[in-house]
Amino acid sequence: MGIIRICLIAFMLAILPSMPEAQNPANANYDESKVGSYTLPDPLVIGNGQRIEKRADWPARRREILELFASRMYGRTPATKTKIALREASRESRALGGLATRRELTVLLTGNADGPKMSLLLYLPNQRRGPVPVFLGMNFQGNHSVSSEPGIALASSWMRNDREGRVVRNRATEKGRGGEATRWPLETIIRQGYGVATIYYGDLYPDHPEGRAESVIARLGEAAGRSGSGDEWGALGAWAWGMSRGFDALARQTEVDARRVILLGHSRLGKAALWAGAQDQRFALVIANESGEGGAAIARRDFGETIERINTAFPHWFCANFKEYNRRPEALPFDQHMLISLIAPRPVYVASAAEDLWADPRGEFLGARGADPVYRLLGTDGLGATEMPGIHQPVTTTIGYHLRAGKHDVTLYDWEQYIAFANHHLGRP
Ligand code: GCU
Repeated sequence: MGIIRICLIAFMLAILPSMPEAQNPANANYDESKVGSYTLPDPLVIGNGQRIEKRADWPARRREILELFASRMYGRTPATKTKIALREASRESRALGGLATRRELTVLLTGNADGPKMSLLLYLPNQRRGPVPVFLGMNFQGNHSVSSEPGIALASSWMRNDREGRVVRNRATEKGRGGEATRWPLETIIRQGYGVATIYYGDLYPDHPEGRAESVIARLGEAAGRSGSGDEWGALGAWAWGMSRGFDALARQTEVDARRVILLGHSRLGKAALWAGAQDQRFALVIANESGEGGAAIARRDFGETIERINTAFPHWFCANFKEYNRRPEALPFDQHMLISLIAPRPVYVASAAEDLWADPRGEFLGARGADPVYRLLGTDGLGATEMPGIHQPVTTTIGYHLRAGKHDVTLYDWEQYIAFANHHLGRP
């Protein structure tokens, strides 16, 4: 065996265990001229072929679309209402150098201390006149990763091992503090008068193919709905459900303006945020940062990630029925523009990054554009762009959009646009 081959094998063995998951397969299409043609289903044409023209007809069509996404893609969120209970785990009134009050709440998801729970970390600006709007978003590396403040409890649920020692034997360590802080510019957000709330997504569903056993779905028992059916919910459904329980918790805080809770998610959590915002109309505004395939990006476009890839790499994300579309996205009775349309007429923001080709920036833009007729039917200004805008030219109509320079991430630039968008559509705090 040649020395080069030995080195290559040694290198692969060294990096494989820490590679989060396979992506960017060499056979993905990144050539716009090879995307092929497709026809998008019309969100305003109902099942029997009639096109709706009146605002009053939308709620029925909306229910029809919601049902399709639940039964064919994300799986059904159980109808059983669970009533949460809250326990305050910690409080610090001089957090972030006195700018904010930091609170950790244990959310008992079934109201019962022996049942499933999640931890919600909340920062509230100390300078406030009355209840404040809050950005709510899940994080990937534990609540302790959004800031290096030592008082935040380490996440206790399963976490993917890494090579930096932030996670050892699938549990978070002290080294992970602040690990995701660049994605959560807390001081900037707080100074603008907004609160920030976050939850570790692994508290709801450990993100791996065998995660179900430890997930909230398993722990809810019968309340989780039928098990083993083609439309049974998976990880994305559970994360979306957790976002709604996060809302329940925020709505009980007197300092929070529950009419202005802004749901935000990045990447897989951007997919979950769109699904949560579609189902739960209490969210005033929804932001999908680089949500890609299964999020804002049009599935019929063969560019970057595909349905088959996502269902193969992440078999636990969607319901089993969705696998039927692996090689035939054109058979789907919807596309992702219709998911976005379920948020109408509430403001929604879709964001892409120019180098994030795996997520298909143009597909994300077209997802936003496809929702425009519904937003207009409901009396808003829809999306104020018919062509994809250039880099750093945000569109700030009721459907917002931007293409940022750079890679797959959440940056200060992204947050600055979200804050301005929220100020514009929901009023300055
Ligand atoms: C993978 C996956 C994407 C997802 C992303 C993320 O790249 O293929 O669908 O959005 O991970 O969550 O970061």
